[in-house]
Amino acid sequence: MSSLLEIDRLSRHFHGLRAVDEVSFGVNRGELVGLIGPNGAGKTTVFNCIAGTLAPTLGELRFDGARITGFAPERVAALGIARTFQNLRVFPDITVYDNVSVGAIGRAGVSFAGALLPFLERGRTRRIADSTSTALERFGLAAHAGTLAGNLSYGQKKLLEIARALALEPKLLLLDEPAAGLNGNETEALAVLVRDLRDAGLTILLVEHDMPMVMRVCDRIVVLDSGRLIADGAPAQVRADAAVRAAYLGDDS
Ligand SMILES: Nc1ncnc2c1ncn2[C@@H]1O[C@H](COP(=O)(O)OP(=O)(O)OP(=O)(O)O)[C@@H](O)[C@H]1O
Ligand SMILES: [Mg+2]
Repeated sequence: MSSLLEIDRLSRHFHGLRAVDEVSFGVNRGELVGLIGPNGAGKTTVFNCIAGTLAPTLGELRFDGARITGFAPERVAALGIARTFQNLRVFPDITVYDNVSVGAIGRAGVSFAGALLPFLERGRTRRIADSTSTALERFGLAAHAGTLAGNLSYGQKKLLEIARALALEPKLLLLDEPAAGLNGNETEALAVLVRDLRDAGLTILLVEHDMPMVMRVCDRIVVLDSGRLIADGAPAQVRADAAVRAAYLGDDS
């Protein structure tokens, strides 16, 4: 298996705090990798560095064989990396359809501001419509396409975020705590969905605190603690790792 994403001695400091400290790991094509660790371990900071919202202090990021270190978010998105946010970023006053089409617009290689201008040529517009509809169908949101996003349930808004990321037709999907705030049934449905996406060939990096879900769906798990990588292995191996148990999972897991 070849690496789609390579993270090489990635560090991000905040005024002396080593939020991410020389972290190296890879994500192979088609793999579903969990990125776990206690609160403040540096998981979201790793995502922000990959997605271009934060510049790394040190280290290298490679995607699909090319260096992407320090690239702007639009450039990273256009290369095929999509992400969801730990805190919902749904636009409440526009429709579900329009929320998702923002993702597809990113794919079409225009900025969000540019996309709001009525100058899109027809082919590109159709492409956006197609990937938006596909993403809505997949997430059971097609019936709500015309609903204002603010009127969706919390669980539906979480799905909407993933649908928007998928409308980008990414090669790599970064999910930051997709199960947070979901009830048991919603989490179960989400786990199936994430696994289906992986089985369909999508490469996924999943940050999640729901350990049963992580252990069940991931091919491999990378563990951070205080900015440092402390384990990288198969779920069973990580679950049994003494350092991981001490740092995070607790003895009753
Ligand atoms: N923009 C920032 N400025 C200063 N400190 C930051 C910033 N972003 C993150 N940090 C700090 O970096 C550390 C890592 O934060 P990060 O959000 O990456 O953790 P996390 O693993 O995602 O945690 P959680 O599970 O709570 O989401 C924390 O100590 C956090 O306070
Ligand atoms: Mg986080």
